[in-house]
Amino acid sequence: MTTAGLADRYGRVATDLRVSLTDRCNLRCNYCMPVEGLPWLPSSVVLTDDEVIRLVRVAVERLGVDEVRFTGGEPLIRPGLVKIVAAAAELSPRPRLSLTTNGIGLDRLARPLREAGLDRVNVSLDTLDGERFERLAHRRRLPDVLAGLSAARAAGLTPVKINSVLMRDINADEAPALLRFALAEGYQLRFIEQMPLDAQHAWDRTRMITAAEILAGLEAEFKLLPDPAERGGAPAETWLVDGFTEPDGSPAKVGVIGSVTRPFCGDCDRTRLTADGQVRNCLFAREESDLRGALRGGATDEEIADRWRAAMWTKRAGHGIDDPKFLQPARPMSAIGG
Ligand code: GTP
Ligand code: 5AD
Ligand code: SF4
Repeated sequence: MTTAGLADRYGRVATDLRVSLTDRCNLRCNYCMPVEGLPWLPSSVVLTDDEVIRLVRVAVERLGVDEVRFTGGEPLIRPGLVKIVAAAAELSPRPRLSLTTNGIGLDRLARPLREAGLDRVNVSLDTLDGERFERLAHRRRLPDVLAGLSAARAAGLTPVKINSVLMRDINADEAPALLRFALAEGYQLRFIEQMPLDAQHAWDRTRMITAAEILAGLEAEFKLLPDPAERGGAPAETWLVDGFTEPDGSPAKVGVIGSVTRPFCGDCDRTRLTADGQVRNCLFAREESDLRGALRGGATDEEIADRWRAAMWTKRAGHGIDDPKFLQPARPMSAIGG
């Protein structure tokens, strides 16, 4: 049944690993987590730094993974992050290394992460208005995020990408302002359609800001041109922003991740590992495969690799959000890592 890499029965091969390092977070974004927080994973089930490093090594050395992204919850609150990044950077072949973060603490950590071998970061930022930020994320931390962004740029964690989720009653009008900001600062902005992954199960398709609406909002102020670059397995569809350039002189881009109205499951190249050592073959998977048990039960690297291959083989063709029988996964976004 299996091949050397992480293939599935639809011919896709996963080469991009997303590792969630914690389910905890210091923000409470409406589209993700309730204000009161969630029951966190007990520390006994969270993989140790050495366990994470071993699984990343198995993925890179035996399963053809060439890109590793660290996520959360909020990965910057994991004490061993710099050590884990450094260990991943020692692997051969060396994977590309990136991080998706809310930016809080990045002002302090950008340089050590860069020195450990991190290549780039994606930072969530939904609004440039402090009062809106507090309504959206339930904490007054906008200045920390902005400081984190500029520290990432200064440390060379580039391209620094910004992820923005627009919500109808809070920041729906802010797309052009966010793009103006990103162009002026040299960050690459992407808008994300809100997905049914919030722990509160409050997602409502009829209230979601669609990719088409986002593009119409941007086009009122900017001229967007088709991006000739190959998209590959990337969730973001990108456009060139006419008349603007990136800090390196290349044409400036803006992206839209239209998971709901413009799904890209057919080209998916992702495999996911949760903080408690479960493989998820899809963001929306409802089944997981336990690697923690194998790891702690003394399995060899090849036995772990085999379990991982078997987990990916059963990946579904698509997320099925449009299917009337669609069921949101039990694990919320904050414990999957996006
Ligand atoms: P880049 O390699 O920098 O383009 O990263 P990315 O956009 O793949 O990763 P990031 O962590 O910044 O995620 C941005 C958004 O894309 C988040 O909302 C993720 O949940 C979403 N996303 C990432 N991977 C997938 C996927 O496999 N399927 C879907 N539907 N969404 C995804
Ligand atoms: N829908 C879309 N994007 C989400 N994110 C978190 N929750 C959701 C959701 N329900 C985004 C965050 C972060 C990335 C990991 O996923 O803004 O940038
Ligand atoms: Fe935290 Fe990210 Fe969820 Fe916001 S989206 S609450 S920053 S894990």
